[in-house]
Amino acid sequence: MSLLEVKNLSVFFESDSSRLVPAVSDLSFSAEKGEILALVGESGCGKSVTCLSLARLLPEPPAVYGKSQIIFSHKERRYDVLKLNSSGLREFRRTCVGYIFQEPSVSLNPVFRVGDQIAESIRLRNKTASGEVFPETVRLLEQVGIPEPEKKMKAYPHELSGGMQQRIMIAMALAGEPDILIADEPSTALDVTIQAQILDLLRSIRDKRGMTILLVTHNLGIVAEMADRVIIMYAGHSMESGSVREIIDGAMHPYTKALLEAVPKLGREKGKPLATIRGNVPAPSNYPPGCRFYGRCALADRLSDSERRLCAEKVPEFIEIRKGRHCRCHYSK
Ligand SMILES: Nc1ncnc2c1ncn2[C@@H]1O[C@H](COP(=O)(O)OP(=O)(O)O)[C@@H](O)[C@H]1O
Ligand SMILES: [Mg+2]
Repeated sequence: MSLLEVKNLSVFFESDSSRLVPAVSDLSFSAEKGEILALVGESGCGKSVTCLSLARLLPEPPAVYGKSQIIFSHKERRYDVLKLNSSGLREFRRTCVGYIFQEPSVSLNPVFRVGDQIAESIRLRNKTASGEVFPETVRLLEQVGIPEPEKKMKAYPHELSGGMQQRIMIAMALAGEPDILIADEPSTALDVTIQAQILDLLRSIRDKRGMTILLVTHNLGIVAEMADRVIIMYAGHSMESGSVREIIDGAMHPYTKALLEAVPKLGREKGKPLATIRGNVPAPSNYPPGCRFYGRCALADRLSDSERRLCAEKVPEFIEIRKGRHCRCHYSK
């Protein structure tokens, strides 16, 4: 049984005119114990909405779920997340999932010492006796690579660097010993060297604890380094999925290919313009009726008018090519 199984996740937002605008549409995937699953796509594609939906953290309204299922298997228990009542949901959040976000400085409370914030996470999430909270805080700080933990826990967030703050956030997320860590662009706001340290830390946590990590990024270099499997998202739809090798070496979808071509490469001929993807991601209120990538698609340029009509009019299905390998395109094979 998979640790997490998402079936046909659709998330809408109520707009001012009380229309339902789709942010995520018909997204299905599973995550296995101990794997790093990457969710990749340009800004606005629905990655964060997907992450927040997994523990039902979006305010409802404006968020509205379509006919969707999120099933989480934890030890002997099975949580049907979208059907949980509020106490079930609290328990699920406390025991099963940990989150880290892009901006640690926004998530940390500026007026409390970081050690107290970690201690509070431990108290909230475990049934730890009060005498055990201090050593547990020290242990977590050591685990996330903070030197001199007993000194550092007295610091206020602004006294720490961005990388240290992100380590504190990771320590807080680990306090409940969750089965899955949802890391939404955890290193995007950091300098590259610090970025690498945070990613190394996440990987070592996965290796030591067998924890599952859902890693959101728009950086394919990070995907190649970190991920076991990849889901490519575009405009709320999953476009392609597969193992990291299948995606990097054998991309099928025109969107994935365009993303890969847009990665700057070292040693590239100077002065040659970088490959870009023409146009922009459409806003959810403006998603076209057929393939959502059609307006930007290089493959469509090579099709006949009648072939293109299918792209414009019909949403391609997310076809399973073989186990764990999917693509949503009428024409790429
Ligand atoms: N609270 C909200 N109300 C209305 N629209 C939202 C809200 N949160 C996200 N959206 C919209 O949902 C879409 C997906 O957003 P998001 O998941 O944040 O994208 P990503 O993380 O891939 O950059 C975007 O078009 C965004 O504007
Ligand atoms: Mg996001």
